[in-house]
Amino acid sequence: MMKICFLTDLHTGNPDDKPFDIDLRQNFLDVIKAIAAYNLDLLIIGGDLCLLGHEDGICQWQKIHLDALGIPYLITAGNHDDPVQLQRVFDELPTPISGELYYQKNFQSRPFFFLDTSQGKMSKNQKQWLRDHLVTVTSDPIIVMHHPPMLMGVPHMDQNHALQDRDEVLRILLDCSRHIDVLCGHYHVEKMIRMQHVTVHVTPSCYLQIDASQVDFAVDHKNMAFRLITLVPDEQRFASEVRYVPGNEIR
Ligand SMILES: [Fe+2]
Repeated sequence: MMKICFLTDLHTGNPDDKPFDIDLRQNFLDVIKAIAAYNLDLLIIGGDLCLLGHEDGICQWQKIHLDALGIPYLITAGNHDDPVQLQRVFDELPTPISGELYYQKNFQSRPFFFLDTSQGKMSKNQKQWLRDHLVTVTSDPIIVMHHPPMLMGVPHMDQNHALQDRDEVLRILLDCSRHIDVLCGHYHVEKMIRMQHVTVHVTPSCYLQIDASQVDFAVDHKNMAFRLITLVPDEQRFASEVRYVPGNEIR
């Protein structure tokens, strides 16, 4: 059995940044402390590491605390990340290809595909790479990507921040004959949609959560979350659940 934690949309700032009266550095430290209790085999970070755009100083601070966890971790780039600069700080990640950080790794004989949607879409080459690799898999793949590959019924995000080439990306996933679980962030909500053999799991952020009923931006709540995933070897099983951690609002 393998235990994996998926953590996304950290949006860590500099020490003086307190957007929406949230202490983002304390949020990061608290969520890291919470996941440390789970005896994890792997940590996956779903992108948007920094509050606004990539900052070496913020990522270096995160790296110190992530390394101290003592478990392997992998990162996929979000729209607030610069994949090339991100890989320079987290230098154990594979080298980006034409500026995109996409790669495949196997865990418990399950193929994991880490995609790069940091530009709000995927390049033609990246999509072809995904197509070519999905036909070769011999067990159910798991896809990690910052943006969900479909609309999620969250009006503010669907109308303003959805993946531009989602129809094309979803087609690639639907053309695969195996069941696919997709791990996403970006939407700052908890949501799951299953379409045919593709299940998309959206995990809330470590910053604030968005009201999923409003077209205009509105805050739902300021608790953080992470997703715990269990993989059972030899059974094509994927079980996951979202756990919440109190956020640090300055009152
Ligand atoms: Fe995002």
